[in-house]
Amino acid sequence: MPSMSTILKSLALASLLNLATASPIGPPALASLTCKTATATAANATSTGAAPTIPTSGTSTSQTHLTSRPDTPDLPSTALKLSYVAVGRGTQNYTCAAAGANSSATGAIAMLFDATSLAYANISTLHAIPPAAVNQAVPTGSMTTSSGALSVLGHHYFDASGTPTFNLTAASKILFGAKTGDVKAPADSSKGPAGTGAVDWLSLTAKPAPYVSEGVSFVYRVVTAGGMAPACTAAGTEIVQYAAEYWFYA
Ligand SMILES: *[C@@H]1O[C@H](CO)[C@@H](O)[C@H](O)[C@H]1NC(C)=O
Ligand SMILES: *[C@@H]1O[C@H](CO)[C@@H](O)[C@H](O)[C@H]1NC(C)=O
Ligand SMILES: *[C@@H]1O[C@H](CO)[C@@H](O)[C@H](O)[C@H]1NC(C)=O
Ligand SMILES: *[C@@H]1O[C@H](CO)[C@@H](O)[C@H](O)[C@H]1NC(C)=O
Ligand SMILES: *[C@@H]1O[C@H](CO)[C@@H](O)[C@H](O)[C@H]1NC(C)=O
Repeated sequence: MPSMSTILKSLALASLLNLATASPIGPPALASLTCKTATATAANATSTGAAPTIPTSGTSTSQTHLTSRPDTPDLPSTALKLSYVAVGRGTQNYTCAAAGANSSATGAIAMLFDATSLAYANISTLHAIPPAAVNQAVPTGSMTTSSGALSVLGHHYFDASGTPTFNLTAASKILFGAKTGDVKAPADSSKGPAGTGAVDWLSLTAKPAPYVSEGVSFVYRVVTAGGMAPACTAAGTEIVQYAAEYWFYA
């Protein structure tokens, strides 16, 4: 959990970002001090300023020029409103049945850090975070970046039935996802510390009943770094470090 000083630092950063940008942005995010007392205090950026533009294609030639190419499909678009932008940092897990087998994905686990204000303030700074963060340890509290601290927004994991879950504890929102789109990451994406390559860019929508998502209903995973499965060299579990941007819509 973040200390009061890291929260104050992130507030100070948010103030700086507010001053540094011409367009108004939402209030700074506040991480809840404990999960149990989480309240809806995280940034709610939908109502202020021009929303940043999601990178729409996983097949652009460069992450610094995130434009779609006519010869390759984009992820499906959404008419929903942007609620949160998060940096995810964690692991993609795989199992290998034997040497030479194809690995199978068994899920992922990641911390989500609130980058909503940063996305509104400076999108290129945001896009630089996943390739840097994947080479650093998973933060236990706020994520320290070259542009300041990002507070904890929540957790991403797969539930017992294999449903990708995004529990935005600091915002009291939750999304149980079902995949709607999947494109390869750009070739120049960070391959991560394992050198295996960047996991696909995805879109997921809220999974139907009996799952009940609250407050967010759609998410993109883009600007991925690392996380691809290694070749199987033996039977067992493979844990691969990754980072990504998650864009949540309501
Ligand atoms: C999501 O996080 C909140 C706060 O920690 C917790 O109370 C809730 O049980 C979690 N939801 C799920 C489905 O795990
Ligand atoms: C926060 O976002 C939600 C979902 O988009 C919206 O319904 C709500 O009105 C927003 N709250 C504020 C204070 O803007
Ligand atoms: C691994 O997957 C590829 C592509 O789906 C397939 O061609 C190949 O036969 C598989 N190899 C094994 C050992 O299952
Ligand atoms: C994935 O690996 C992490 C260790 O990084 C572990 O904590 C988690 O339980 C694993 N999850 C699954 C679904 O295998
Ligand atoms: C965004 O930040 C970069 C440095 O990371 C800076 O060069 C650029 O001018 C900033 N852009 C805006 C719009 O503030």
